Amino acid sequence: MTQWLDNAVFYEIYPQSFQDTNADGIGDLQGIISRLDYICELGCNAIWINPCFTSPFGDAGYDVADYYTIAPRYGTNEDAKQLFFEAHKRGMHVLLDLVPGHTSTEHRWFKESVRDEKNAFSDRYIWTDSVWEAPENMGCLRGISDRDGSVALNFFSMQPALNYGFYKITRPWQQSPDDEGPKATLAAMMDVMRFWLSMGCDGFRVDMAGSLVKNDEDGKGTIALWKKVRAMLDKEYPQAVLVSEWGEPDKSLQGGFHMDFLLHFGPSHYNDLFRCEHPFFSSAGKGDASAFVEKYLDSYVKSERKGLICIPSGNHDMDRLARSLTPDEIKVAFGFLLSMPGAPFIYYGDEIGMRYVEGLTSVEGGYNRTGSRSPMQWDSSANNGFSSASPEKLYIKMDADPERPTVIRQLARKDSIYHTVKDMIGVRQEHTALQSRAGIDFVCAAPHTYPLAYTRSSEDETILVIINPSAVSQRFESDLPGGETIYSLGGEAVKEGAAFVAPPCSVNYILL
Ligand code: GLC
Ligand code: CA
Repeated sequence: MTQWLDNAVFYEIYPQSFQDTNADGIGDLQGIISRLDYICELGCNAIWINPCFTSPFGDAGYDVADYYTIAPRYGTNEDAKQLFFEAHKRGMHVLLDLVPGHTSTEHRWFKESVRDEKNAFSDRYIWTDSVWEAPENMGCLRGISDRDGSVALNFFSMQPALNYGFYKITRPWQQSPDDEGPKATLAAMMDVMRFWLSMGCDGFRVDMAGSLVKNDEDGKGTIALWKKVRAMLDKEYPQAVLVSEWGEPDKSLQGGFHMDFLLHFGPSHYNDLFRCEHPFFSSAGKGDASAFVEKYLDSYVKSERKGLICIPSGNHDMDRLARSLTPDEIKVAFGFLLSMPGAPFIYYGDEIGMRYVEGLTSVEGGYNRTGSRSPMQWDSSANNGFSSASPEKLYIKMDADPERPTVIRQLARKDSIYHTVKDMIGVRQEHTALQSRAGIDFVCAAPHTYPLAYTRSSEDETILVIINPSAVSQRFESDLPGGETIYSLGGEAVKEGAAFVAPPCSVNYILL
């Protein structure tokens, strides 16, 4: 039922910055609907939309105040329904962003929970017994009401942690996942999922999915929790897809997630490739992909070679690719991103090389992330076609550089990032070996070496991928035979004697 994931290519939409249709300077759901054909044309057949629920927007909507209502600035629940319908009509699928770890302090549950009198929401959040005791290893709010206790935080100060219980209990106020409070929290979250699934959404990207049960070092409590969710879904919505922001596929896949994101923080070495002093994808050729490959293989093997680790081009939390890579380097990077196992995720605008906008003041809790969240650049009309509001009304400023890329400009150039991405997705869709579940074996990935080479294999074919980001030609010995080049950027790689030789700044997919 979730077979569509096998060849899914996702497009991440940050709704406030994609397309405004009512001139208030903020993107909206009708805007997304109006751009579905664009996304489809690029080759993406699935979208993930960042939280679009009622919120005070202190963390861009990751501070949910009502899980059941589309934020008025984005439209209505009817618009969401229409979006699901219009996407399905085009053979596309839609994941909403579920934020189960915390709410906004504005959420009704929290307003009840802070009250001194015991009520149905007293245990919805994690409270210590006394205002003088803070929860260990977590931030907290204290002295905010007459309830005697400190309440734990999950992220920013207005995001109190929902109570799913503690795996190891060390203090009297800590509850077990099987206690009434935590059970009610989980039941409430399952109802939220049912609500949107019954309206037609295809599943969820789950925010901080590994954070739910506390004092849970090995993730056992949180895995058990997600297994319960999966069991409910298998019964009621078997087609529902779950993708986790967890970064430990061995755990998340056990919990019933279909795929897990590789994180840009922690031990993944993802940013050795794209965002560091010497990125592997820089043509300077000083990078090193080996630590990334080692860690990737470790996760890959631990997750039973299921290959469901999603490597995003970027997201709303990290710098745009274009902050550290040139347009030509970005094309080579996409040659990698679009030929790896797991479903690729393209962050809106990365397909045209949108830049990190320097020097913006923080908007909606973005801080340094704000520069990666600027409005989509469509064409040469006012506000680049994002909005017909006056420029000062835009909730985040446009990239002001006259050279900024736009969809229109990119469409006009055959060698643009846009066309490269589109061609690569096209090839991926024609070859099962390049898709989500096909296996991977690294052929050339030793420390401080270029190129990076790997084979991808499905039941009926094997494709050798050779990626050489460096500005000089590179070779590697291999007893693999040559084959038919099915995609090439920057010149064909050739077999010379016992070695493959890859031209400078090139990507090659060779059918063996
Ligand atoms: C995730 C989101 C991020 C948000 C945080 C708290 O990491 O991607 O944008 O700020 O969770 O919900
Ligand atoms: Ca709008």
